[in-house]
Amino acid sequence: MILVTGGAGFIGANFVHQWFESGHEAAVVLDKLTYAGNLGNLADLMGRSGFHFVHADICDRTALQRVLTEHRPRAIVHFAAESHVDRSIRGPAQFLQTNFTGTFELLEAAREYWVALPGAQRDSFRFLHVSTDEVYGSLRETDPAFSEQRAYSPNSPYAASKAASDHLVRAWHQTYGLPTLVTNCGNNYGPYQFPEKLIPLMILNALEGKPLPVYGDGLNVRDWLYVTDHCTAIQRVLASGRIGQTYNIGGGCERRNVEVVRAICAALAALRPRAGGYESQIEFVQDRPGHDRRYAIDASKVQGELGWRPQETFESGLSKTVRWYLDHADWVAAVRDGRYRQWIELHYGSDRPGPT
Ligand code: NAD
Ligand code: DAU
Repeated sequence: MILVTGGAGFIGANFVHQWFESGHEAAVVLDKLTYAGNLGNLADLMGRSGFHFVHADICDRTALQRVLTEHRPRAIVHFAAESHVDRSIRGPAQFLQTNFTGTFELLEAAREYWVALPGAQRDSFRFLHVSTDEVYGSLRETDPAFSEQRAYSPNSPYAASKAASDHLVRAWHQTYGLPTLVTNCGNNYGPYQFPEKLIPLMILNALEGKPLPVYGDGLNVRDWLYVTDHCTAIQRVLASGRIGQTYNIGGGCERRNVEVVRAICAALAALRPRAGGYESQIEFVQDRPGHDRRYAIDASKVQGELGWRPQETFESGLSKTVRWYLDHADWVAAVRDGRYRQWIELHYGSDRPGPT
């Protein structure tokens, strides 16, 4: 049994699907089901033997203690977070609450649980913290890619809150000996991504004939990784990573934003042809404040130590992603009109923590 926080979100849901598909044992997902958490992402796992779902907030220590005592996991994989940079600029408080305080509460609950485990279980227990390359700040065009030695230099409230959580994890290892692992990954894309992030937003806006809003000059660079490749890397780190270590994860797929948007338009033109295509919908809009210019990941450590390699190129991953959104109109509609929130209310009742 492993405990997965944030498993109803984009990467967490992909991770849980892959976990079961690759023949692993049980998993319990703990998720607050914020606007980004969607039980529809896990619908096919509901009722499956070995799958459990707990609706709880990582800031709630008592709920965390209860889950750990009841399910006795051998590892915690910690995805739960507020994850969108633009939201963090408009309202940073929730980012500090979940990403910093929530990680603190989870670390403390994990420590209390771990110290009480019997010898062999104590030795094999792992706390894997899923983090981001944004903690390293921004690169210039000619700078080398982020290695694990790069100094932290976060620029957005989101990045600062994740950097702070990484520091807590490090401290809990150094001070208390908690057997931690940290992964810092670049931009993910793929199925189940909430359509506030660049790639799904552009796919859906394009299909709906809406503007494709590219921030600033569109030349900011991100290092893209198909989500299942990220999940495979997390599985490798969990299985064989060295305790107390950090592993950077990336696909070596640097692309300028405007190139990404044009690639989406081209993929749509091939799969859903339309007179005039989609590129005419691109609009350059006001830049994001503090917008990091470039991210790039040096993944040589996870490749060299753990033999991890991404399976998808940017082209193959983007094609799969566009197809997925075209084939899942129901998922899109439910996310767009909020129906999935009504289902949560119906299923869990108003006395439980609801979506924000
Ligand atoms: P997401 O926003 O899609 O999902 C986050 C999930 O966490 C949701 O299910 C949400 O309900 C849950 N959650 C939020 N606050 C919670 C709380 N207080 N208690 C319990 N659950 C809570 O995010 P994502 O894109 O899947 O990212 C997952 C993790 O991976 C995050 O830690 C993020 O920082 C990290 N990460 C994301 C990317 C990316 O490109 N998306 C890249 C690198 C790292
Ligand atoms: O690098 C990892 C990070 O990637 C993760 O830690 C974050 O959780 C994840 O959200 C992502 O952050 P970004 O800010 O890079 O992702 P986003 O999809 O919001 O934006 C990608 C790029 O596209 C960025 O340079 C901003 C730009 N952008 C984004 C949106 C939503 C636009 O030009 N227009 C848009 O409408």
